[in-house]
Amino acid sequence: PIPLLIDTDTAADDCFALLVGLLDPRADLRGITMVAGNVGFDQQVDNAFLTVGLAGRLGEVPVFLGARDPLERPWASAEDVHGDGVGGLKRPDDGHVASEEHAVDAMIRIAREHKGELRIVAIGPLTNIALAVRKDPEFAANVGSLYVMGGSINARGNITPAAEYNIYVDPEAADIVFSAGFADVVVISWDPLTITDAVFDQGRIDRIAALDTPLARFFVRANQATFDFDTRVGLAGSSHCDSLTALLAIDRGYVTAESRYRLEVETEGTITRGATVFDWQSDDNNVTAIEKVDGDRFYEYMLGMLASTPVA
Ligand code: BDR
Ligand code: CA
Repeated sequence: PIPLLIDTDTAADDCFALLVGLLDPRADLRGITMVAGNVGFDQQVDNAFLTVGLAGRLGEVPVFLGARDPLERPWASAEDVHGDGVGGLKRPDDGHVASEEHAVDAMIRIAREHKGELRIVAIGPLTNIALAVRKDPEFAANVGSLYVMGGSINARGNITPAAEYNIYVDPEAADIVFSAGFADVVVISWDPLTITDAVFDQGRIDRIAALDTPLARFFVRANQATFDFDTRVGLAGSSHCDSLTALLAIDRGYVTAESRYRLEVETEGTITRGATVFDWQSDDNNVTAIEKVDGDRFYEYMLGMLASTPVA
């Protein structure tokens, strides 16, 4: 199996991305690292443990605590989008605690242990990854592939007109990461992909609800706030960019179009903070951006996963 690490600001879609990493037999999830993002940090940690519990994998996959704030800026919440991120569900008293090792140290160690093989799925702000780059000069070279959910190819953001949330929250970290020289950086951007190929409309949600498994019930509940927000801002349903990112890290076969780009992050702009500029004319490319995936197959994959009933 593929050694995987998921760096997450666990709420809504992040939970389902964790389920992909926890349940897909092709993946060997070595750890979950927590980063400041979507909702309050401690809530995110509870959401991660709740998800690991639902996957029946408590005690098998360690959770590491990382940066509680962006590198240079105050934290910006997305609680208006996600609520608490799990639809009010409470984590049971499972008795499990996060590892003592800091997320950044764990990331550096795991990358060393799986030199050239580790695939990192980064589905929150890039603060932890940037800190690992700063702390270990060999970190970037040790990582096999880095899959980032973030940015917007056509400069259409979600938190501001110009910026996507994960990059907006910590643009300095994103700048460090995209300049670090990782061998294989794959970017799953907010558009055009997520507003078409990775959107679950009411019909899709109804099919999930009809499964009536514990995972499907969890999905419907944790997804509701995102569904309400995304449809309010004009999407056809809820966007599932994070779970798609986790799946592509395991199986690139869902991709139907991709391109190489030089990606730069706007850190100075007043109205463009966190905007991503995808230079299509550069001969010094640093990322592969996914432009299109087989959205129906992705949905069928998720349906299959949510239909399963994992046992501890
Ligand atoms: C990203 O921010 C969060 O809302 C989602 O989990 C995703 O990682 C989308 O902009
Ligand atoms: Ca996320």
